[in-house]
Amino acid sequence: MEQQNKYAKSIERLNEAVRMEIATSLQYMYFHVRFEDAGYEYLAKLMKRTSIAEMRHIEELSERIMYLQGDVDMNPIEPTRAIHGVSDALRFAMTIEQNTIDKYNEWSRLCSAEDDTVTHRIFQNLTVQEEEHLDMFRTELQNMEDYGEQQYLALQSIAHSKEIVE
Ligand SMILES: [Fe+2]
Ligand SMILES: [Fe+2]
Repeated sequence: MEQQNKYAKSIERLNEAVRMEIATSLQYMYFHVRFEDAGYEYLAKLMKRTSIAEMRHIEELSERIMYLQGDVDMNPIEPTRAIHGVSDALRFAMTIEQNTIDKYNEWSRLCSAEDDTVTHRIFQNLTVQEEEHLDMFRTELQNMEDYGEQQYLALQSIAHSKEIVE
């Protein structure tokens, strides 16, 4: 009889996390290319940078799975959504981050209770980063509401033009 991996539950959680991170990374890269095409300089950069940060999370989680002698499920948990509006994109990004934070908090706690302190710490550290992402998206949305959508996007476009001539 094949021996049950004592870290099976951790591996299951890590794999769900990998699949969430892949979907998130692709979603942000989608926002990046759309915003860049629209000339929204800062937003485009912000999305690219965050997409790459999520990609690094995939790597970190995957390495832990391999260490625990599991196999990585390298498939997105859901398809990328074709969201075009800037405020809708920011709101969706905030929802993604909040869901991720909720899951990682729960999994961190469960892994700790099962004496897998390393996976516990990985989820804990990732939660800190996801909270920073959430905060960043929240700030952008707040700016947009404070300045008004037209003003906010105009400032982004001017930054884009400046980037070209400088
Ligand atoms: Fe992440
Ligand atoms: Fe994130």
